[in-house]
Amino acid sequence: MFKSVKSNLLKYIGVQTFAIILFSLTAAQAQQAIKVTGIGRLATPAEISAWDIDVRPDFKGIPKGEGTADQGQNVWESKCASCHGTFGESNEVFTPIIGGTTAEDIKTGRVASLTDPKQPQRTTLMKVATLSSLYDYIYRAMPWNAPRSLTPEETYSVMAYMLSMAEIVADDFTLSDQNMSEVQQRMPNRNGMTTEHGMWNANGKPDVSAKACMKDCVTEIKITSELPDYARNAHGNLAEQNRIFGPYRGVNSTMPSLKSMPDPKTLVAADAKDAVHAPVTINALDVFNKNNCNACHAATSKLVGPSIAEISAKYKDQPDILSKLVMKVQKGGSGAWGSIPMPPHPQIPESDIRIIVQWMLKGS
Ligand code: HEC
Ligand code: HEC
Repeated sequence: MFKSVKSNLLKYIGVQTFAIILFSLTAAQAQQAIKVTGIGRLATPAEISAWDIDVRPDFKGIPKGEGTADQGQNVWESKCASCHGTFGESNEVFTPIIGGTTAEDIKTGRVASLTDPKQPQRTTLMKVATLSSLYDYIYRAMPWNAPRSLTPEETYSVMAYMLSMAEIVADDFTLSDQNMSEVQQRMPNRNGMTTEHGMWNANGKPDVSAKACMKDCVTEIKITSELPDYARNAHGNLAEQNRIFGPYRGVNSTMPSLKSMPDPKTLVAADAKDAVHAPVTINALDVFNKNNCNACHAATSKLVGPSIAEISAKYKDQPDILSKLVMKVQKGGSGAWGSIPMPPHPQIPESDIRIIVQWMLKGS
């Protein structure tokens, strides 16, 4: 029965609405709902191999082949030097590729000049830890003006030449899929890579520690890290730099973060008028997050629903708005902000919705 209701719904309502309805289905139901047969075909082996060009750190995926440093010099001079300089030293279109590494670094696997303030520029070979990345990057993306135009042989040879310029291999070296892992053991910064640090603070903890989950997954989203305020608008307004559809748009970084909204603990009594005079210690933000309002509403950027700042700006001076909005959250509905509906929330106690909505109304 469920299924036929759903397919009828699908006939009559828009796809966006359908997506919202999926929110309220279990994963199994959702899977059943979107199972479509008779469309598409299997990709051919040739199609797959055209896409499947990645090379892993253990060199899985690398094409068979070889190239000498000597041949590589020709490739470099005809296809790379115009941008990266004859010796990979050019600073013109990008930071230099070669330089800054020593024989000692090759022994230790850590590039000393990376932490030397006298080093003027960080080069690619100072930083890159895995030879596979160099192969993958060049094969995939270079030359800049003609990516994917190199053969595996040209890639091996130009790498052999680059590595010989950095004195990691000899001038007559032949690099191949067979000896990549040996050369890896000579990469100057092979031990220099770590992911155990914060994104904004090298002494901090990693800010993401995701666990893959296939069952008994958390149902409640808790935001545990945010851009620190000083980094918030460092690269201009993120909202303007992201595509404007899909659930994860860039946050409006010219506005304050959710954290800097009014202290959720100073709320909330029976209605908005009292709230100012009768603060109680309920954390509205917790209630907001616990009820997954944050899946669709963020502080300043539009997600599925309008941002808290927008809701506040629109309604905060309207008398009697609180009860109307509380009812809207309970019953769901669309039209105030567009055609995407908010689902009803019959399971949340009215008093909790009140707390959240009061807090949202304060929030810009
Ligand atoms: C038309 C200019 C141009 C040419 C020609 C060119 N490159 Fe580049 N290369 C760039 C630019 C620009 C970047 C930076 C791209 C980016 O970061 O998005 C780059 C980046 C690189 C990097 C990555 C550096 C890093 O530290 O991230 C490598 C390695 C590289 N090029 C190698 C080559 C090789 C090898 C060739 C010749 C086969 C080549 N390039 C030809 C412009 C060029
Ligand atoms: C699945 C997404 C979704 C969830 C979850 C959600 N909302 Fe909404 N919300 C929306 C959409 C979409 C709108 C815009 C509706 C419209 O245009 O009338 C909206 C609008 C609102 C409005 C403004 C209503 C108006 O008429 O202007 C408030 C207030 C609101 N939501 C509060 C909440 C609260 C509180 C929660 C958590 C209990 C919540 N929302 C959960 C999607 C959602």
